[in-house]
Amino acid sequence: MNAVRPTLADYTHIQSGKVRDLYNIDDECLLMVASDRISAYDHVLETPIPDKGRVLTAMSVFFFSELGVPNHLAASADDERIPEEVLGRALIVKKLEMVPFECVARGYLTGSGLKDYAATGAVCGVKLPEGLGEASRLEEAIFTPATKADVGDHDENVTFDAVLSKLGTELAHRIRQETLDIYLRASTLTEARGIILADTKFEFGVDNANNLVLADEVLTPDSSRFWTVEDYAPGKSQPSFDKQFVRDWLTSSESGWDKDSDSPPPPLPDDIVDATRKRYIEAYERISGLSFDDWLGETSWAKA
Ligand SMILES: Nc1ncnc2c1ncn2[C@@H]1O[C@H](COP(=O)(O)OP(=O)(O)OP(=O)(O)O)[C@@H](O)[C@H]1O
Ligand SMILES: [Mg+2]
Repeated sequence: MNAVRPTLADYTHIQSGKVRDLYNIDDECLLMVASDRISAYDHVLETPIPDKGRVLTAMSVFFFSELGVPNHLAASADDERIPEEVLGRALIVKKLEMVPFECVARGYLTGSGLKDYAATGAVCGVKLPEGLGEASRLEEAIFTPATKADVGDHDENVTFDAVLSKLGTELAHRIRQETLDIYLRASTLTEARGIILADTKFEFGVDNANNLVLADEVLTPDSSRFWTVEDYAPGKSQPSFDKQFVRDWLTSSESGWDKDSDSPPPPLPDDIVDATRKRYIEAYERISGLSFDDWLGETSWAKA
């Protein structure tokens, strides 16, 4: 390992989302840095969760290497071009032409899917049987694409026809098939470890050779709903595996915050921060079977 690493200031900052910051490495690669920022009820909270960025990065690397489909990793997670200050929560990725849809797979009905179903009997144009409710398991997973909203807006569910007319038949069918294939593989893996993958969102890019490449983050608590098998009980809202302490505290009288008001949420108390940090780490360790302590060590540096 090179003794002198660059600093973040050596790279040009390109953009920041709610959670990740992108920097330019060269013509082919980006540095994708996961921060410790956490969002709840559509707000980015002012209090970070220590280690969250490292957990999200470790989980993505675990699944990229587990899934065996082309992905955007361009170097190992300890590559010497990664600045010390973001080591463990930054990845060097191939610059791709991003497909302008969020590719969502749902094996269970909840969130915006349930809302659409209650209103129309379908989700993104996929007709579902009558009588389903909160957290119902679907007979087979469905592809429910959404358009990527601008910062501050909600993503909007769209039909497969909308994807077809924007991307053409070939690419539209490819992203649907890949999304469902990867969901099936990932949900089988998590269920073997006692975790239900209720739904998840993938982002794909296309490289210069026209290959479809899995990009962004994959199968993290930020892009997926994980429920524990032991607590699963359809008909009511399932506790979210990661952010439940934050949500419960924010809506409790103790926080003094009204989530329907315009005011920003208050800072989180230390015990809530600590409990949330532990949940993120638990999600990583339960699902991957790896120890989070090893993430910066030799054993779990997965090569691209
Ligand atoms: N290989 C890649 N090449 C180019 N862009 C990428 C690649 N992988 C991910 N991205 C983009 O990088 C950004 C990641 O940042 P982040 O996830 O924080 O933002 P976001 O998804 O736009 O917003 P948010 O997650 O806050 O809703 C996304 O816009 C994503 O589409
Ligand atoms: Mg994102």
